[in-house]
Amino acid sequence: MRIAIGSDHAGFELKEHVKNYLKSKGLEVIDEGTDSTESVDYPVFAKKVAEDVSNGKVEYGILMCGTGLGMSIAANKIKGAYAALCLYPTMAKYARLHNNANILVMAGRLMGPTLAEETVDTFFSTNFSGGRHTRRVGEIKEFEN
Ligand code: RB5
Repeated sequence: MRIAIGSDHAGFELKEHVKNYLKSKGLEVIDEGTDSTESVDYPVFAKKVAEDVSNGKVEYGILMCGTGLGMSIAANKIKGAYAALCLYPTMAKYARLHNNANILVMAGRLMGPTLAEETVDTFFSTNFSGGRHTRRVGEIKEFEN
């Protein structure tokens, strides 16, 4: 499974931690930046990761900014990107189970490394449940046309 990861300055340290965590588990991770804690604009990185997911370069994306809010808003403007802000594992569980999210968004200024690891593990170990949720997700996809 290939994953693209990106952050702004406020998510940089958590991005580095999560990237190394995923690599230690043998996953292929494409780092789309940023590369330091120097101030940058989060939409730039949201677009890169969302487009990687949308064009099939990767199966999933992970984005982090201070709160996760800006990254969520920006990524969801890209057709085919379904970004869900998950502040703890239960949110990640339902982001996959009910919403079929393909981008996990986390908050660099609100989440510690262990909470982020557990949230990532839950997101990637949960499958979409389908059924009535297929119809609901389909209704969202119709907004794109
Ligand atoms: C940067 O200060 C902050 O606004 C950004 O990381 C993010 O939280 C925006 O939603």
